[in-house]
Amino acid sequence: MRISRKMEEAINRQVNAELYSAYLYLGMSACCTEMNLKGIANWLYVQAQEEMTHAMKFYRFILERGGHARLPAIEGVRDDWKTPLEMFDAAFNHEQRVTLMINNLVDIAVAERDHATASMLNWFVDEQVEEEANSSEIAVKLKLIGESKEGLFMLDKDLAVRVFVDSTQPAGGAQP
Ligand code: FEO
Repeated sequence: MRISRKMEEAINRQVNAELYSAYLYLGMSACCTEMNLKGIANWLYVQAQEEMTHAMKFYRFILERGGHARLPAIEGVRDDWKTPLEMFDAAFNHEQRVTLMINNLVDIAVAERDHATASMLNWFVDEQVEEEANSSEIAVKLKLIGESKEGLFMLDKDLAVRVFVDSTQPAGGAQP
């Protein structure tokens, strides 16, 4: 069954929001690279890659359901971050807003009795729990670290190990 116009528009907005998220994290990653915090920059770069896969999962779904994918301009992002804490506080706030957007999509799917969309969205409902927890945990660690250069060095080292895995694909396979 073709996706409804209302659902299609809402998911198209989410594609844009996920691409914006990728931009946001990429901008933060660039700032951390400039600050010589390569591990934190790596974590944020991987996060930007992950956001791209979120956008593509929604994009593919619109097309699979016979809808029309729209690609309006992506809003610019801030690029003058001063500290990692400022970034991760903003990331946590951002992820909470994304959760509200996902919840709104679920509300539309339920109201329209669109079970296919509701089922697809379940993945994102679960994913958002992790997204909020990740940014929140790092923000808490940065608060504990405070002005300690050693603490920041250790965290930077920890975050350097994150590698990109496409969790939207069944076995981490390539996207079409
Ligand atoms: Fe795509 Fe960070 O949620």
